[in-house]
Amino acid sequence: MKNRVLISDLNKHIDQEVIIAGWMHRIRILGKIAFVILRDRTGIIQCVLSNKELINQVKDLQVESVLKIRGIVRASDKQESGIELDVNEIHIISPVYDMIPVEINKDEIDAHIDTIIDYRPITLRHQKLRAIFKIQAGIVEGYREYMRSQGFTEIIFPILAGASSEGGAELFKLDYFGKEATLPQSAQLYKQIMMGVYEGVYGLSYSFRAEKSATTRHLTEFNQFEFELGFIENIEDLMYHCENVVRHIIMKIQKEFVKELEILNTTLPIVPEDKPFPRITLRQALEIYKEYTGIDETMEPDLSPGAEKWLSTEWGPKEHHSNFVFVTHYPLSKRPFYTYPHPDNPELSESFDLIGNGSEIVTGGQRVNRYQHQIERLKEKGLNPDDFEGYLMMHKYGIPTEGGFGMGLQRLTQNLLGLKNIREATLFPRDLNRLTP
Ligand code: 4AD
Repeated sequence: MKNRVLISDLNKHIDQEVIIAGWMHRIRILGKIAFVILRDRTGIIQCVLSNKELINQVKDLQVESVLKIRGIVRASDKQESGIELDVNEIHIISPVYDMIPVEINKDEIDAHIDTIIDYRPITLRHQKLRAIFKIQAGIVEGYREYMRSQGFTEIIFPILAGASSEGGAELFKLDYFGKEATLPQSAQLYKQIMMGVYEGVYGLSYSFRAEKSATTRHLTEFNQFEFELGFIENIEDLMYHCENVVRHIIMKIQKEFVKELEILNTTLPIVPEDKPFPRITLRQALEIYKEYTGIDETMEPDLSPGAEKWLSTEWGPKEHHSNFVFVTHYPLSKRPFYTYPHPDNPELSESFDLIGNGSEIVTGGQRVNRYQHQIERLKEKGLNPDDFEGYLMMHKYGIPTEGGFGMGLQRLTQNLLGLKNIREATLFPRDLNRLTP
């Protein structure tokens, strides 16, 4: 819209006539005077309507009507922003006559999370939800900034696929011209193939998991920040980039999203300043958990949700000034077919998870890079190498030692902002019971 001034810029126009446009956030009519709070993407402003014609124009409208308003910006010490608008003319771009089903003009939305998601097209306009997804956009930007600064190449992944990448039963299948296709669990195989091409790649992928259980940490559709690097010596080369990208993202959010963090009334998790994130093996993690809490999970092949929470919100901050803890060397039997065995102990894998402020946010590891070795690993997992012909082509024709990691975008957003449910960190969540809106 030509000549439109954004609300955040109005203080540069005191005593001048301007045109603004946005949503009617609130309205109060007091006889001969009315106050309309108008909201645009940059803020809100009180607009004062002091004649009958103007009031008649808006008196039957409901909140969220879209208006274009011409008026004069006045200094006002009664307003938090220090200004208000003396209205001369109103044009109704889109009138709303229906009562809004969920109130979005209060500090908090007073509704259950399911209702908030059912009414996403409206509730996303609430200042807290807008702050969450503004920060999420900043997280994506921060990820790209770091990866680009290291000289890595961004790639775009296909979604329709013929084979499973992570194994297991959590696979969505669909009909593809009479044949069976699958939706990817991650972009794993494709980022690995690119090791023969660019040596260092990254990208934001789509992951689908037919998770049958409804938890506060799992979705059936989510995004991963994918990363893969060639010519590595071991997982240390990967954890280095993993901690640096997380550190870069946190510093960026801290610096550039002050207003949003304030709206959410939250502080970001702590990262050790000049030191690497703590690194412990899974064995050590389970021993420490037992030693400090008395809970014995030392026979388990993985960390329980309770152990992940304790490590990253109690032990990490107390012992290492860090809400982020790398846990390494998980049992090989628990990791997918592409995972490299530990050089000194074939029962273990050259792998890691990053536990970040409550739960796992990253899984990574070194991959099998030699052809015969990969064929053996597929067979050990009960998979048919013939189903992986395209993938195995890269091993057959030479790829370096390599590895990478995947970091869940929604999980990262949830844990950075301390949100209770991953659905709060997902614009349009998909789960066992939900495919809309
Ligand atoms: O641990 P996952 O399954 O690992 C992979 O997909 C590997 N390809 C990664 C690699 O490069 N080795 O998933 C990676 C991350 C998890 O740490 C978590 O942040 C997120 O993706 N994630 C989920 N987020 C939401 N809902 C789910 N069901 C998720 N499953 C994993």
